[in-house]
Amino acid sequence: MSEKFENEMKLEFLSKSSNEAFARIAVAAFASQLDPSIEELADIKTAVSEAVTNSIIHGYENKTGMVKIIGKLIDNKIILEISDSGKGIENIDVAKEPLYTTKPNLERSGMGFTIMESFMDKVEVESILDIGTKVTMEKKIKKEDLLKEESKCTSQDELIHATNE
Ligand SMILES: Nc1ncnc2c1ncn2[C@@H]1O[C@H](COP(=O)(O)OP(=O)(O)OP(=O)(O)O)[C@@H](O)[C@H]1O
Ligand SMILES: [Mg+2]
Repeated sequence: MSEKFENEMKLEFLSKSSNEAFARIAVAAFASQLDPSIEELADIKTAVSEAVTNSIIHGYENKTGMVKIIGKLIDNKIILEISDSGKGIENIDVAKEPLYTTKPNLERSGMGFTIMESFMDKVEVESILDIGTKVTMEKKIKKEDLLKEESKCTSQDELIHATNE
């Protein structure tokens, strides 16, 4: 393992919908090492749920395969790679569009990627037909004292500006 990473984990499980909660909780336990707020943790759990559900429902459809999650913690950032060896996505740009779904009959709303993008800082999708799909997501955890520092800086900046004017 390279020295750059503070921590790393790998999780592999069968594409059964009962494992979706397992994946969400396991990733949350790993992410909690960064001391996230309840809201930040909820964002990560929701994004993981969406990506894992996609692998199970779209990637493997009626078949069973393995879903893999690699998690990395670097400084105050979590990086998650969620992948499957399923059917793949034909057009990633179209798939990412809000409300686009290939399974409207299964009460899918086509909002999975949009949700991942709004809850995480960065979302990248790589996919090859009949080979599989990999979603890489990143989120910076803002530590409470850091936030306080930031707001302190802003008010000091404002003070300097006000004095200069
Ligand atoms: N892992 C995957 N393998 C194959 N196709 C995928 C995968 N993930 C997403 N897709 C394709 O991208 C489309 C859009 O995914 P998205 O998660 O945004 O919506 P959805 O899963 O259809 O609906 P929702 O997530 O709102 O229930 C899916 O309908 C599917 O065609
Ligand atoms: Mg989805």
